[in-house]
Amino acid sequence: MQIGILGGTGPAGSALGVRLASVGFDVVIGSRSKYRAMEVVDKLHEQWPALNLSVTAGDNAAAAAADVVVIATPWDAAYGTATSVADALDGKVVICMANALTRIGKEFQPLVPPRGSVAASVQAAVPGCRVAAGFHHVPAKELGDLDHPIESDVLICSDFQDATDVTSRIVASVPNMRPLDAGGLSQATPIESFTAVLLQLNVHYRTRVAVKFTGIPEPERPAPGLDGSTGGESEAEEA
Ligand SMILES: NC(=O)c1ccc[n+]([C@@H]2O[C@H](COP(=O)([O-])OP(=O)(O)OC[C@H]3O[C@@H](n4cnc5c(N)ncnc54)[C@H](OP(=O)(O)O)[C@@H]3O)[C@@H](O)[C@H]2O)c1
Repeated sequence: MQIGILGGTGPAGSALGVRLASVGFDVVIGSRSKYRAMEVVDKLHEQWPALNLSVTAGDNAAAAAADVVVIATPWDAAYGTATSVADALDGKVVICMANALTRIGKEFQPLVPPRGSVAASVQAAVPGCRVAAGFHHVPAKELGDLDHPIESDVLICSDFQDATDVTSRIVASVPNMRPLDAGGLSQATPIESFTAVLLQLNVHYRTRVAVKFTGIPEPERPAPGLDGSTGGESEAEEA
């Protein structure tokens, strides 16, 4: 499966890209400038020369041509970025990891974007795609550090079960990451907002937290798969 990342040159997108490449996905790091993407991709290859990662660079249109597309832009750029490649996103699973936040003094505060969440606004921008919200709470630095496992639950929500399933299988491909089906896309509002709490914890405890839930039975964890099939045969900033 090829995964394209819009705005993949930032800390979050590049970290997700390199982590997914490390478990076998073909990743296209997208950017408004393919030259910026090339610089970022060169640095990733320099950082992990022995891993022979399948990470390539392109503009956002090239990333949007992938099988599954991730939106990793700032929240206020997500709608416009999705709209700019709407034709390519049509019919695809689109994973939105953007959080609408602002920092006022020492306090992180969630913002409420149009339609209640960034993910819902992307769904409205491209009605023909199937948006899943996910990866909001995974700290970029740890995600991109391939020398260490990243241990985190990933809350996923979508109005399309196959989008949740595809996203879940991508998450489950990463050792120690657990996908959790959090319901419909309306849940993206609290999921995105909750990131403000995590960032506040980062500041208070001078760390970078990740999320782990207790009480969920292990059978909920789907088997990992790289083929991108959507059938029901198998089964998920310091600031
Ligand atoms: N950092 C984390 O730990 C983390 C974790 C989980 C989720 N997130 C979320 O993931 C998203 C990306 O985070 P980040 O820290 O990587 O953000 P970022 O560095 O501010 O932005 C990511 C990329 O988006 C592109 N971009 C910036 N402004 C744009 C605009 N006006 N229009 C179109 N593209 C624009 C840029 O790429 P080009 O200039 O190359 O186009 C930039 O490199 C955010 O919404 C954040 O809330 C972050």
